Amino acid sequence: MLEGQPRTFYLRHYYLIELDQSKIALLDALRDKHQQSSSDRRVQIQVLQGDCNIIIPELLARRPISDHEATFCLLDQRTFECHWSTVETLARYKKSGHKIELFYFLPNSWLPRAVSRTKNVERLRRWWGRDDFDAFLHLSQAKRCSTFCERLKTELGYTHVLPFPILERAHGRRIMYYMIHATDHPAAPTLMTYAYNTAVHPLPSEEQFLLALERINDAKPDL
Ligand SMILES: C[S@@+](CC[C@H](N)C(=O)[O-])C[C@H]1O[C@@H](n2cnc3c(N)ncnc32)[C@H](O)[C@@H]1O
Repeated sequence: MLEGQPRTFYLRHYYLIELDQSKIALLDALRDKHQQSSSDRRVQIQVLQGDCNIIIPELLARRPISDHEATFCLLDQRTFECHWSTVETLARYKKSGHKIELFYFLPNSWLPRAVSRTKNVERLRRWWGRDDFDAFLHLSQAKRCSTFCERLKTELGYTHVLPFPILERAHGRRIMYYMIHATDHPAAPTLMTYAYNTAVHPLPSEEQFLLALERINDAKPDL
């Protein structure tokens, strides 16, 4: 994200949050490299070590971002590290202007296995943010995706919510996860679709993607 931003959506303040202390040196190096090479002195990058579910609410409580600053939050979780309450805090932050845009990683093909290995039920509850996480986890893959997207719309007020499938590299058949883009900016879905089509190689075949979309559209959220 630090490289190649479109001019229409230029970000100047970055917060890179990582729980694992051993990865912080790499992020510090990335920050230093970018700041040395960037000609724009207004770009500020902060590396923060800790749990994003604690850091994000604490950070936002200090109101560091103005309501009119374009803001994008990549929630790049592996499985269910990001609590629903954190997503909610981000979605409700702006009092006017456009909401903080979200790019949320929803695990798909490996989710059932990850859940079956989890003994910590409280972790699942915090991730889903409600007691009916078990019903959600038993939905079909397509319904999980559409239900999650619908929740971002109805509960958190995002106008446009689009799931972008990421297929497994080896055979390109299974959808490993969805990158779910949530925004209320009318131009943002087009930009994100362009970025996805440019960045994802190989692209899913048209047949695969249309089939996936059809399944998402047909699937009625059960929750
Ligand atoms: C899928 S990786 C993505 C890392 C990075 N975005 C990248 O592209 O290399 C998920 C990262 O989240 C970190 N992580 C896990 N739980 C976290 C939490 N509660 N708060 C912040 N980071 C967390 C992990 O240590 C891991 O480095």
